[in-house]
Amino acid sequence: MTGKAARNIFIGGTLVSALIFLWMTYDFHRQEPRLAKTEMIDEHVVAGKKVWHKYNCNDCHTILGFGGYYAPDMTKAYFRLGESNIASIVMHPETVYRNSFRKMPHLGVSETEVKDLTAFLRWVGNIENRKWPPQDEKYVKAFRLREVSAQKLEKVDIVMGACGGCHSFENQGRNIAGDFSAIAARITYDKETLAKFILDPQSVHPGIGMPPQQVSRETAELIADFILSLKVGKEVRK
Ligand code: HEC
Ligand code: HEC
Repeated sequence: MTGKAARNIFIGGTLVSALIFLWMTYDFHRQEPRLAKTEMIDEHVVAGKKVWHKYNCNDCHTILGFGGYYAPDMTKAYFRLGESNIASIVMHPETVYRNSFRKMPHLGVSETEVKDLTAFLRWVGNIENRKWPPQDEKYVKAFRLREVSAQKLEKVDIVMGACGGCHSFENQGRNIAGDFSAIAARITYDKETLAKFILDPQSVHPGIGMPPQQVSRETAELIADFILSLKVGKEVRK
């Protein structure tokens, strides 16, 4: 190859690469509002991000790939847990995680701050991040479908979508409060009582660390049915 040909390849290659790079930069900024759901960013989301930094939640948790690896990833936490569970965990981790060996500290986050935090986590959860982390996609799907068209989901998906943030079943979900097979074998509630427990745990089992679940009465009954069906060798009372 002559020196001239080498120079042309160098200049041509650099130009083509630079053009591709510029186009990708332009295209990224063009698509950003759609992918990052910028229309969702209101004053609560902004305030929530400040709360996230004020308490250094990132020290232990990751969000969109950044942060510590000690505690669960928060990118899709909104869909894994929902508002009421996030609020209970952040304000009373010592109660919800009573039986867990890992410890989240009680940070003294106020009620207003928690509201802003959940707005922030709701926005983060909605960012189009090409289904990553993949293991959380089933929670997102179940969360979105469980109240509007629960019949499109398998019963087990509804249960894991609504409860899998704290309970496990056949190696799905996160077991910080018991596996449903073990719980089913232990509890003596009938369907009515179990549905009531799901909606308002304290009214059935005072002092228990489980927060009230934000599901409809119908979904609670469907879940109660499923859990009671796991009882082996026992008559399930209807
Ligand atoms: C010192 C470390 C630490 C800090 C700081 C911390 N957390 Fe946690 N967090 C944890 C641990 C550990 C868990 C999991 C506990 C378990 O599995 O028993 C957890 C769990 C959670 C969960 C439930 C996650 C899930 O998917 O089950 C939420 C929500 C949460 N933290 C929110 C926050 C927020 C919001 C902040 C900041 C205000 C924060 N955490 C600060 C350690 C921390
Ligand atoms: C934020 C975490 C969290 C979520 C989400 C959650 N639970 Fe729980 N659950 C707990 C804790 C904590 C306990 C108490 C564990 C213990 O003390 O052994 C518990 C206990 C239970 C028990 C045992 C009750 C008893 O009297 O012993 C049942 C049944 C139960 N949960 C069902 C559900 C169902 C169904 C869902 C979903 C609709 C759900 N839970 C969602 C945290 C959670």
